[in-house]
Amino acid sequence: MRKQLNIGIIGYGFMGQTHADTIAQLDYAQLLAVCDIDPDRFKELPQQIKAFTEADALLAEPAIDTVIIAVPNQLHLEMVLKAARAKKDIICEKPLAMNAKEVKEMIAVAEKEKVRFTVHQQRRWDHDYRVAKEIFDQGLLGTPYTVKSALYGFNGNMHDWHIYPEMGGGMLYDWGVHLIDQILWMMPAKLKTIYADVRNVINEQVDDYFNIQLYFENGVNAQVELGTYFLNSSENWFERHWFLGGNEGSAKIDGFYPRGEITRTSELLSNVPGKITMTHAGPTRSFGPAPEGRIITEALPEVRVNHRMFFDNYYAYTQGQAELIVKPTEILRLMEVIEAIRISANYHQSISFE
Ligand SMILES: NC(=O)c1ccc[n+]([C@@H]2O[C@H](COP(=O)([O-])OP(=O)(O)OC[C@H]3O[C@@H](n4cnc5c(N)ncnc54)[C@H](O)[C@@H]3O)[C@@H](O)[C@H]2O)c1
Repeated sequence: MRKQLNIGIIGYGFMGQTHADTIAQLDYAQLLAVCDIDPDRFKELPQQIKAFTEADALLAEPAIDTVIIAVPNQLHLEMVLKAARAKKDIICEKPLAMNAKEVKEMIAVAEKEKVRFTVHQQRRWDHDYRVAKEIFDQGLLGTPYTVKSALYGFNGNMHDWHIYPEMGGGMLYDWGVHLIDQILWMMPAKLKTIYADVRNVINEQVDDYFNIQLYFENGVNAQVELGTYFLNSSENWFERHWFLGGNEGSAKIDGFYPRGEITRTSELLSNVPGKITMTHAGPTRSFGPAPEGRIITEALPEVRVNHRMFFDNYYAYTQGQAELIVKPTEILRLMEVIEAIRISANYHQSISFE
């Protein structure tokens, strides 16, 4: 017989409520209780779900086997340790912790208490990312040399506790941990060098822009750029882009529901006779149009993913039917990368990593 996940959520704000909505759609899980220090959060809670204002009270519920932690970032360590000691399996929100030292402590306690432990890095199941990863994994561009992942916000918004460093605010902890995790999970290679520019463009205390170069042992230079202050009057509120380059083609992917194409040349153009073309930039030979028929386009590979697959994988793992996809040790490496990024940005120097 299939065992259900009996879930309690600690922190019933934006993400806690998003998790409740997701759990309602899963046939292998049910939500038994939620906890938030602010009882106003319980206004629309269905009656059969218990509500607590203290985490300890929720953790004392014997029927709960799995706890989702969705409190602000500076509280993750305390909650993970409490939950592990209460013998609950744990799904913690990202960023898992404020630093790598905290992650090590969490991993040690989860191992000691023999509880399952993972992190909600659901952006490993983003559609645009999986298209990029499929292109990379299948070697569709030959030998890859560059991957660029970019996200730009058009309105300058940063909200609530996200503007306070002591609460784990800033974009590196908010989106950075997703975007960098995507690159690390895509790249089966040691990360040799990190160079990062991290800035507070309009926020006094926390970063709202970063441009990070990650140079891997397999020769790929990955660039991750995010800005919240790329003001634009467009109807969209943001732009998401990927560019992948290899010696047999390029791929451009735009948007979270991606559009784009793979582009190749029918023959390599490495040493063709120069032909001068007049452009707006002036006369050019290298950047003029390719001869008729040389440029060939292909559709992006099809992938079928959604964020629920994070929970599908976690459930299959609890049933001994799958390997856990988001492993705490990978998130420790991610947090070490984040720390190296901050050092690189502070000193304007590249950092040797692995
Ligand atoms: N995976 C994702 O894509 C994603 C997206 C958004 C937020 N998050 C993460 O989810 C977490 C929560 O973010 P949010 O946007 O939902 O914040 P939020 O402010 O909307 O919700 C946090 C809730 O925690 C409650 N809380 C604070 N201290 C508490 C305590 N001691 N015990 C119980 N409840 C307490 C607050 O009252 C609030 O309701 C953060 O770690 C954030 O980074 C992840």
